[in-house]
Amino acid sequence: MHAAVVTAFDSPPVYREFPVPAPGPGQVLTDVLAAGLHPRVRSQANGSHYTSSGDLPLVPGVDGVGRTPDGATRYFILEDTTMGAMAEQTAIDPRRSVVLADGSDPVAIAAAMNPAMSSWVALRRRISFQPGQRVLILGATGNAGRLAIQVAKYLGAGQVIGAGRQPDKLAELAGLGADLTVTLDRAELGKAAADVDVVLDYVWGEPTAAAMAAIVTARADRSQPLSWVEIGSLAGITAAIPSAALRAARLQLVGSGQGSVPTSDIVAELSDLAAVITSGAFQLNVKAVPLAGVTAAWSAPGSHQRLVIVP
Ligand SMILES: NC(=O)c1ccc[n+]([C@@H]2O[C@H](COP(=O)([O-])OP(=O)(O)OC[C@H]3O[C@@H](n4cnc5c(N)ncnc54)[C@H](OP(=O)(O)O)[C@@H]3O)[C@@H](O)[C@H]2O)c1
Repeated sequence: MHAAVVTAFDSPPVYREFPVPAPGPGQVLTDVLAAGLHPRVRSQANGSHYTSSGDLPLVPGVDGVGRTPDGATRYFILEDTTMGAMAEQTAIDPRRSVVLADGSDPVAIAAAMNPAMSSWVALRRRISFQPGQRVLILGATGNAGRLAIQVAKYLGAGQVIGAGRQPDKLAELAGLGADLTVTLDRAELGKAAADVDVVLDYVWGEPTAAAMAAIVTARADRSQPLSWVEIGSLAGITAAIPSAALRAARLQLVGSGQGSVPTSDIVAELSDLAAVITSGAFQLNVKAVPLAGVTAAWSAPGSHQRLVIVP
């Protein structure tokens, strides 16, 4: 079969022949229909993700849509493995998958599940989010941020504020349901987002440290709970959090992702989220790319479109 194969962490994957994987205990061989090129997949392929074992060669791809031998079309999440989803076939554990309804678009599901899951799971499994609450999204212009706006609204947020670094990209967010947009400027955030109940944070780094100080000090009522959920680290993997932020307000700082949310909780959310994506409730920005074009897709200049590899 053919696969996208990484043989060095400093080079993109190459389309080439690769052995058909032998399914392990509980796994089944699956024909892959679509696999998303998410930031998580890039960090898997360049060895920088915290789950990286350093083993090569590897086939990237952490999730996807495939057809199992029983004829079902499934969205699947792979375990940490060097045999990923960007191949004609891969081995999946059906317990980490969900059967998709007839009419589901494999490309849309492969594009959206990973970025949408980041906010969906954070709001449903990591904090006790209540309808009507006000949500700030730091890093709202990327795929996960744009979906976070729509997920928060879908789950009943009373107000959604989208924050990002580029005003022209922020201008697109009202069309997705954002009630307000702001730049990552500390003063602007202090004015616009001082009284939010939840922050979904995709940026971390210096912008987060500044935003946290601004919001905490500008709150009208510092005893009002604030749940700050760290989800991504687009602006830095460390942040100099002011100690006073954790003392001066009722701030709860948690992370949401692989490990901090049990796999069983993530799997339990797959069906509902896949159904919402299939219903067309969320606007997506997707481009399908043939598996044979994986090297060019990997190296293409940055775009806000989520690329999906189609074997
Ligand atoms: N924990 C989880 O469950 C989970 C799940 C999915 C994704 N994630 C993480 O979430 C993050 C976003 O993923 P994605 O799919 O949305 O990626 P994406 O579509 O590639 O979007 C990247 C975004 O990052 C922004 N950005 C890049 N550098 C920045 C900086 N220095 N300061 C502020 N913004 C910056 C870009 O903003 P511009 O619009 O200004 O270019 C762009 O909007 C990634 O870190 C990813 O690993 C976590």
